[in-house]
Amino acid sequence: GGDTQKPFIAFVLGGPGSGKGTQCTKIASDFGFAHLSAGDILRHEIASGSEKGELILEIIKEGRIVPSEITVELIRKAMEMNNAKRVLIDGFPRCEENRIAFERIVGTEPDIVIFFDCPEDEMVKRLLGRNQGRVDDNIETIKKRLKVFESLNIPVVDYYSSRGKVHKINATGTADEIFEAVRRLFSSLRL
Ligand code: AP5
Repeated sequence: GGDTQKPFIAFVLGGPGSGKGTQCTKIASDFGFAHLSAGDILRHEIASGSEKGELILEIIKEGRIVPSEITVELIRKAMEMNNAKRVLIDGFPRCEENRIAFERIVGTEPDIVIFFDCPEDEMVKRLLGRNQGRVDDNIETIKKRLKVFESLNIPVVDYYSSRGKVHKINATGTADEIFEAVRRLFSSLRL
């Protein structure tokens, strides 16, 4: 080992259904990033059948936010196991508390923040149309997730905007069209 260089970290934010996961898959394969999805990491913990997973399931079913120490510790472990030079952290931080916990526990800040900007009605349409619907893809929970996004996640975007770290991408149109803008952005980065 011996490579102690800090990885290049991109936080990927956007409302539920804005296409974070879809775009991250493409970025990962075209630009050599490891893709860590906060939601997938939590769902993986649920699938393991652990006590922690049961608690997480209750929270996710209601569209609420999982306690920061749990999420950040799982992300920290995933980063450590991946040991990648470039990392996308998809769907995180969800709230100011998440952001502060990451800075404290992982001890670093993101290099950039990508924000997928998408109108609510488009996000709802995509989530309801998702092929194998998730436990949180019913209209009631979707509405809660949108509320949580507006009240808790937008302040995080504003915080990083004030630090000049946010790259806003128009997330309407087809996934390929959106990726064109994403590709331009990542090509312009000095990685
Ligand atoms: P998470 O898994 O992060 O879900 P989300 O933010 O609600 O976002 P989604 O994964 O549903 O959507 P996405 O933006 O990735 O879009 P996707 O590409 O899938 O979080 C789920 C829950 O976990 C949270 O509610 C919370 O409870 C908990 N959680 C997560 N992170 C947490 C944290 N940090 N702290 C605490 N709790 C946390 O696309 C959606 C659909 O649209 C797909 O079917 C896709 O095929 C389609 N689609 C994508 N792009 C397009 C396009 N351009 N046009 C048409 N359709 C498209």
